[in-house]
Amino acid sequence: MDLDVVNMLVIAGGTLAVPILAFVALFLLWPSALIKIYYWYWRRTLGMQVRYVQHEDYQFCYSFRGRPGHKPSILMLHGFSAHKDMWLSLVKFLPKNLHLVCVDMPGHEGTTRSSLDDLSIDGQVKRIHQFVECLKLNRKPFHLVGSSMGGSVAGVYAAYYPSDVCSLSLVCPAGLKYSSDNQFTQGLKEIQDLASAEKIPLIPTTPEEMSELLQLCSYVRFKVPHQILQGLVDVRIPHNSFYRKLFLEIVSEKSRYSLYENMDKIKVPTQVIWGKQDQVVNVSGADVLAKSIANCQVELLENCGHSVVMEKPRKTAKLIVDFLTSVHNLENNKKLD
Ligand SMILES: *[C@@H]1O[C@H](CO)[C@@H](O)[C@H](O)[C@H]1NC(C)=O
Repeated sequence: MDLDVVNMLVIAGGTLAVPILAFVALFLLWPSALIKIYYWYWRRTLGMQVRYVQHEDYQFCYSFRGRPGHKPSILMLHGFSAHKDMWLSLVKFLPKNLHLVCVDMPGHEGTTRSSLDDLSIDGQVKRIHQFVECLKLNRKPFHLVGSSMGGSVAGVYAAYYPSDVCSLSLVCPAGLKYSSDNQFTQGLKEIQDLASAEKIPLIPTTPEEMSELLQLCSYVRFKVPHQILQGLVDVRIPHNSFYRKLFLEIVSEKSRYSLYENMDKIKVPTQVIWGKQDQVVNVSGADVLAKSIANCQVELLENCGHSVVMEKPRKTAKLIVDFLTSVHNLENNKKLD
């Protein structure tokens, strides 16, 4: 009888111990493991699968859902220091019957990081083209989406490889020229004048700087617990030297105005989505694009900063789907003519 009670306690204790131990272990391994599990779970829920593809000795990592079909496939290019999973919040609101591909940009997450790699916007465009060829994604023209740095790459891609792309969504793209600097750009100039790349706001090294980055990128001011900020910055720190190198490359003379210099070569229907309160890349860039691209429609989002996809995922998804539908219908009409 006593033995039974002991046994019962042992079993009960054992059953409880597993989740408790797992939780403690996660906390100790916090945060990268927890963040990885979080994205793994989210991808699983949304039906996104991760794959790798090789071009010579270069590896691309991407996630996808669905298969190429009647409607154009959608390729999504993320921004500086982000990764393919930043699109998940948007994917959640996209129809299941679309073929979606989200790739890790050169040097980010699962895609090769090499000191020899050309990280200029031009270099990235060429890499993405290799990726597209590997996947044979351009068997039929696809819809290209890019945000921030990825927006600059997407626009230049459409200019360089016009037959690959059927339409384009640029979400607060970088790479344009402005008549006056915003606070962020002014700050950058000072950094460059000082020739010190230590204090770039997009490359936080402490929880406090991480908090400032979140404030800089989003419209809503939210208070994030210190522990979480620490976690968010901890997973970035091992990559900071790469981020510095990449950042200096994309703001260099060669890349800084890449989109601006190529936008007149964009001939496909283009949609520009921008948060009105973007503090990183000013919303007035939307006008610059609209004036230069013949078939361009602009969507400005109220109460939205630079992190458009994170802040307005539902709205952004709807805009992209509506845009695709309208472009698609136009094509149908042409066929009827
Ligand atoms: C940013 O864009 C807004 C809206 O076009 C404009 O009023 C403002 O002057 C711009 N700010 C800077 C610093 O260029």
